[in-house]
Amino acid sequence: MRQRVNITSKNAHLHFYFEKLNSEKVLTSFNCHINEYNYYLFQDAIRSLKDHIAKTWLLCEHKTGNIAGYMALIMDSIKLSLSEKELHNLDYPFKTIPAMKIAKLAVDLNFSEKYKGIGTFLIDSAMGIATDCNDDYCAARFLTVDADIEHDEGVLAFYQKNGFIPNAELYNKNRKTISMRKDIYQ
Ligand SMILES: CC(C)(COP(=O)(O)OP(=O)(O)OC[C@H]1O[C@@H](n2cnc3c(N)ncnc32)[C@H](O)[C@@H]1OP(=O)(O)O)[C@@H](O)C(=O)NCCC(=O)NCCS
Repeated sequence: MRQRVNITSKNAHLHFYFEKLNSEKVLTSFNCHINEYNYYLFQDAIRSLKDHIAKTWLLCEHKTGNIAGYMALIMDSIKLSLSEKELHNLDYPFKTIPAMKIAKLAVDLNFSEKYKGIGTFLIDSAMGIATDCNDDYCAARFLTVDADIEHDEGVLAFYQKNGFIPNAELYNKNRKTISMRKDIYQ
């Protein structure tokens, strides 16, 4: 395999740009190795947008306009145990803390072969959107995700490498996904 180009927050703009999905967008090819995520993009993303269920961001390549990856963002809240709240210095009487969630995230296989770090860049970009949202509109302390270990157990390591930790609540109850969080401000 030839050397992959390393994508970072500093150089990503040279190769890619973000586009918010809208109903006029003609979706060309996208293929990650899990059908459910391909299906989401072509079948559900527009409907979810219209119903205000999820907002999908496309990462497109400058050279071709092709979709290298996407993420769907939603608002969220998570329940934290006392010790988890202590870990994040959150001395509040309520259990539920506001968050923003990555509901879907996927990278096209052809692009994974050419570039390393697209998934990480998408997470960094979601962090940026969450910070902008905090600065100007609405508070969210965590970025959350349900790591889909049913399709690929490796995604747990992927999210851990990107600073997510498993939540006590929901951990083990549903073996298909692991609820995880990343503190935006710690
Ligand atoms: C998971 C996914 C988004 C990762 O995207 P990516 O662009 O390959 O990820 P990155 O290049 O940023 O990887 C960052 C690190 O995580 C590791 N990693 C990425 N995917 C991994 C996997 N499936 N299993 C184990 N490790 C993985 C990489 O090796 C890399 O480690 P390193 O920094 O030590 O070299 C991509 O493989 C994908 O689209 N998978 C199918 C859909 C999916 O599972 N989405 C997540 C559902 S919750």
